[in-house]
Amino acid sequence: MYNSMIYTNNLTNKSMNIQIIYFSPTGTTKKILEGIVKGITPKSTNFTNLMAPQINLDIDGNSTDLVLIGVPTYANRIPPEAIVELKKINGNGIAAVLVAVYGNNKFGTILLEMKEMAKKIGFIPIAAAAFIGEHSFSTEKMPIAFGRPDTEDMNKAQSFGESIKSKIKDINLANFDLQVPGKLPHREWNKIPAQPPETDENLCIKCGKCVEACPVNIISITESVNNDQPKCIFCCACVKICPTSARSVTDAKLLEIRERLYNNCKERKEPEMFLENTNDEVFGQPLTNKPQIN
Ligand SMILES: Cc1cc2nc3c(=O)[nH]c(=O)nc-3n(C[C@H](O)[C@H](O)[C@H](O)COP(=O)(O)O)c2cc1C
Ligand code: SF4
Ligand code: SF4
Repeated sequence: MYNSMIYTNNLTNKSMNIQIIYFSPTGTTKKILEGIVKGITPKSTNFTNLMAPQINLDIDGNSTDLVLIGVPTYANRIPPEAIVELKKINGNGIAAVLVAVYGNNKFGTILLEMKEMAKKIGFIPIAAAAFIGEHSFSTEKMPIAFGRPDTEDMNKAQSFGESIKSKIKDINLANFDLQVPGKLPHREWNKIPAQPPETDENLCIKCGKCVEACPVNIISITESVNNDQPKCIFCCACVKICPTSARSVTDAKLLEIRERLYNNCKERKEPEMFLENTNDEVFGQPLTNKPQIN
């Protein structure tokens, strides 16, 4: 196995080399991670995009001091397609910051799931956060967390990075068990029974941007734009990137979900950050007031 103390010692001595691992079809998760990195001011950064075909990734403790893992929240959970790619990574006992981005509805048990997953693949989670990004289903007419992350969110992301930087020096990885909110069981993952977004051939200029943006590579352009329906994850990357608005959500079930979210998620939620160790003791007693959400 690995000696986690080696990495703690490294962190006290130098500016960090950071590996950023992300799944971000519409870019909000990646943007938040970049804000956090700005606050850490690392020596170097390296990005791994979980939406690109992956070979098994062995994180090297000699060249990486800290890993940031970011995913969007899908139905309160990690998107299954991101889980497949995360399982190919070997964390080798390196410290990890876990970031979930959600569309101003709920983030459920995703941070707990990310913590379990990070530990399973060999990382030591040291900080976590839930940030808000514009909802994948949001449109100008039916905005849901429209334009987020905004300047306020990005400032908070940077401050979170600064907190990580100042706190990391004092962390003993061997004794660190990150406190995250969430109460088991996880909500069961049910795929939405719906059709992918459709293309209005009269508006399509066949630019190929939707093909490039699709994280599961199911769009192709022949005479018309085609979808491979069963694999669609409804991320709406193709819709948001389309320069002519040719691509749009037309499925009745998805339209109904959009309307419900538009009506119910108007109140602005704020980012939440977690840096505490469950093994920290107050007057000799382990902390018992762990944050929980239902
Ligand atoms: C299939 C699906 C499920 C989603 N489930 C949730 C959810 O449970 N709670 C929430 O607040 N947002 C949910 N969202 C919205 C995304 O978490 C949010 O838009 C996020 O910012 C997208 O990240 P990205 O820009 O990195 O792709 C969902 C989006 C999709 C496509
Ligand atoms: S991004 Fe829009 S305009 Fe471009 S090929 Fe796709 S559907 Fe057509
Ligand atoms: S076709 Fe489906 S999976 Fe591909 S970008 Fe569009 S919504 Fe996402």
